[in-house]
Amino acid sequence: MTTLARAVLNLGRSGPVLREASASGNLKVLASLLGPAYRGLIMQEARGAQSTAMPAGHRAIFDWSYLRDRPQLARLYEAAKSSQWNAATDLDWSISVDPLDPEHPLIPEDFHPISTTATWRTLSDRERMKQRHALLSWVLSQFLHGEQGALFAACQVTEAVPWLDAKLYGSSQVMDEGRHVEVFHGYLTRKLEKLYEINDNLYTIVDALMTDSRWDMKFLGMQIMIEGLALGAFGTFREITGEPLLRQLLTAVITDEARHVHFGVLALQECFRGLTEREQREREDWAFEVSLLLRNRFLAWEFYEEHWAHAFGRVEWERLSVESKLMGSFRQTMFKRIIPNLKRIGLLSERIRPRYDELGLLVYEDGRPAPELTAADLLADR
Ligand SMILES: [Fe+2]
Ligand SMILES: [Fe+2]
Repeated sequence: MTTLARAVLNLGRSGPVLREASASGNLKVLASLLGPAYRGLIMQEARGAQSTAMPAGHRAIFDWSYLRDRPQLARLYEAAKSSQWNAATDLDWSISVDPLDPEHPLIPEDFHPISTTATWRTLSDRERMKQRHALLSWVLSQFLHGEQGALFAACQVTEAVPWLDAKLYGSSQVMDEGRHVEVFHGYLTRKLEKLYEINDNLYTIVDALMTDSRWDMKFLGMQIMIEGLALGAFGTFREITGEPLLRQLLTAVITDEARHVHFGVLALQECFRGLTEREQREREDWAFEVSLLLRNRFLAWEFYEEHWAHAFGRVEWERLSVESKLMGSFRQTMFKRIIPNLKRIGLLSERIRPRYDELGLLVYEDGRPAPELTAADLLADR
């Protein structure tokens, strides 16, 4: 297929996403998401590529005053230093992982989107185990790609944030995210032996964060939205997997991610107090639209294309995925984290509330926001 023909086909398929990306009617928000959506969804820049170069437009701020004037961030930095772990030696990589072992299933059968259909009942036990292996490989591959995005976002934020205490904390997050890339890549290549490319919707969001020049938007996107998604998703898989090494790995990663969300809330609470009304509106709309993308669009299309495109149409796959136990669990755990934090940083105003209400998301608003949660709470509070 020519590049143009592929682009036209992808444009047609991206209709619902583009409609959602313009749901707020805020032109500035739409403009900031259009470039990334064009590169991610229509041109599919990362597909089949060994690497992608994204332009980064932010400024690196040097702080020659070296003022240590933010004690909460300083405390978080101390906690981060004393909580470092070594991915190579602190996890038990000697555990052998057999994806076809029914005693230690990677994920439960009913989390597979087609497990409720007649087609599923025609599969042998072995084929069903293989399906669960492939689906988990797709999910963990997206975690890996998201972690690479988080690694670079942490680097960028460390450069762009103006406060020294935030830069020092940011340096610890860079190390954390590097370790997360290491563990997910190690698990996928050494244990599952399968790796999928980045999902186009995830690519679009990562592109939007990398190329936006404003540090608070990077913070909002990465530390509140993506980290919220990650905490929800990691928690879900930690709870449902029967495979001990994956459980160990996710427990360790969740402990780090809890600090990252806390960092985002502390920094943005301070930063957003100084916004003009227009800047405030733009951030509210942006967060709402990214919520929509996160809620509806991580539907394992790459997995579908490899395994199920011959049996189900795209509309049917979308319905099965949205209604699946997997997505239901994701949505719940993700918004349980994201919504209280949006409220805490002031982005759940009277103006935007009805839109979240329409999606049924305000039920989560009185959940405890990240700063009051310890990592132990996050591990226990499922
Ligand atoms: Fe991470
Ligand atoms: Fe993180």
